[in-house]
Amino acid sequence: MSSKGDILISGKDLWKSFTSGDDEVSIIKGLDFSLAQGESISIMGDSGSGKSTLLNLLSGLDCLDKGSLKWKERSIDNLSSSTLSSLRRSFIGFVFQSFYLVPDLTVYENLYLSAKIGSKNMSRDVIHKRIKKYIEKVDLKDREQHSVTTLSGGEKQRVAIARALICDPLIIFADEPTGNLDDHSSKEILELLLSLVEIEKKSLVLVTHNSDFAQYTNKKLFLKNGTFYD
Ligand SMILES: Nc1ncnc2c1ncn2[C@@H]1O[C@H](COP(=O)(O)OP(=O)(O)O)[C@@H](O)[C@H]1O
Ligand SMILES: [Mg+2]
Repeated sequence: MSSKGDILISGKDLWKSFTSGDDEVSIIKGLDFSLAQGESISIMGDSGSGKSTLLNLLSGLDCLDKGSLKWKERSIDNLSSSTLSSLRRSFIGFVFQSFYLVPDLTVYENLYLSAKIGSKNMSRDVIHKRIKKYIEKVDLKDREQHSVTTLSGGEKQRVAIARALICDPLIIFADEPTGNLDDHSSKEILELLLSLVEIEKKSLVLVTHNSDFAQYTNKKLFLKNGTFYD
């Protein structure tokens, strides 16, 4: 049992392969993974080692070939994709290297759109309050009505972090979130993500190539040949 909170994700004997031409290539090979509430884990590994594939499996975006996965106490192995999507929205928020914001919309509109898609029953008023809260948290109050296209990389990533938080998930999956940023912005983004763990008690899975950044997480895992090395 972890010294942190309850176990949020528990994966046992996870396997995944992809077909490439006539070949079947095994990417994840019998891996175990667990993430507790308030825990931060960094995942490192060479390009192509399967880090994004693993995040897709843990978030139920991709199917396992074999193994079992639980979110909290609940097995997600046999859930329909619509049940999974609605559970996922309030469970995991995603941040990607390439931001994936909607170009030309403002910061506010990007967040509004995500809130509306993520939580159809949320009233305009509640959404507005949440947007204000998270815009403040990522320190973008003065950019609220700016088109995201005009923002710097670091600012775009802060919008993406606010978007990941908008449905108040317990976990943040950040897949190389500083991969497109300069050193200064990268540090700011790392600090922001770590503050979510410290202050908001979120759990964080951080895929990074930066071994200095990985030192700041509670646990550091290295993915190679389909399995983890500490
Ligand atoms: N949907 C897919 N179909 C076929 N091959 C895939 C698919 N997704 C990933 N792969 C392959 O799996 C390997 C691991 O990819 P990925 O998880 O993206 O690695 P990483 O994130 O560590 O760079 C790569 O060789 C990639 O080409
Ligand atoms: Mg990747």
